[in-house]
Amino acid sequence: MDICKLKLIFVSAVFVSCLGVNYGQGVCTGTTPCYCKFDNGQFLHLVSLAKSDGSPRFVNVTDTHEMTYSWNPCFNFTEGACKEVALCGIQPSIPHDLYLPLGNQNTATFQTNRTDNSVTIVYKTQTKPFRTSYVSLVCIKGDTKDSYFKAIGQKQQLSTDFYFELRSPLACPQGEPIVTSTQKPSSSSNKALEAGLITVSIVAFALMVALTTVVLKMKGKICKGGENYDQL
Ligand SMILES: *[C@@H]1O[C@H](CO)[C@@H](O)[C@H](O)[C@H]1NC(C)=O
Ligand SMILES: *[C@@H]1O[C@H](CO)[C@@H](O)[C@H](O)[C@H]1NC(C)=O
Ligand SMILES: *[C@@H]1O[C@H](CO)[C@@H](O)[C@H](O)[C@H]1NC(C)=O
Repeated sequence: MDICKLKLIFVSAVFVSCLGVNYGQGVCTGTTPCYCKFDNGQFLHLVSLAKSDGSPRFVNVTDTHEMTYSWNPCFNFTEGACKEVALCGIQPSIPHDLYLPLGNQNTATFQTNRTDNSVTIVYKTQTKPFRTSYVSLVCIKGDTKDSYFKAIGQKQQLSTDFYFELRSPLACPQGEPIVTSTQKPSSSSNKALEAGLITVSIVAFALMVALTTVVLKMKGKICKGGENYDQL
């Protein structure tokens, strides 16, 4: 009887994992500090926003307190005492401003919020004082030059976590999704790809049916009794 239940669970798991293939964009996996690829083949690429001359794309953006921040995606920059950073905070101070390195490009990771598929770039400093910065990517319509960097800053005084938002068309998933949950009419360029996917799906389905049949047969052998088939 226990073995019967195990088999039932196994069959259910196979069904669920087959259904679970289509779940929208999925997780965006970073491969460089400014590129990540979603499970569905779409991607985010911020390079057209970045400056590559050692200066930041967004300079001295103020939060609601007195701090200002500079950020450059993709490539590091130097501003004051922030040397080769991705993000720098400047705190007005006497006799001179304090420069707080807020993260390095080579620490950049992409985090996907599975509730709404939104993506955040996370940077860390690699030496003391350790700080972490979160840049939430917010998709807006329009031109890349309308991109807007908003500094939220610390949510609590003395916190080592700093929060930001990039509102940009570059924060919208680019490229054609390979697998869509709502099937769109296909362009000719990815017809071949789609045919391949359909073949894979048919093979997967056939395998599933075969597997289910085998399991049912085994169940029939192992579990003697009348009500086995009714359970499925
Ligand atoms: C940014 O702020 C720093 C420190 O206040 C200042 O030295 C620098 O000139 C500012 N840069 C720009 C482009 O305004
Ligand atoms: C900053 O960028 C330069 C040029 O790409 C690179 O040589 C250097 O290693 C980078 N520095 C850091 C701290 O990543
Ligand atoms: C994920 O997104 C949902 C909906 O926008 C939001 O309520 C939630 O706070 C987010 N989670 C994190 C960890 O940011």
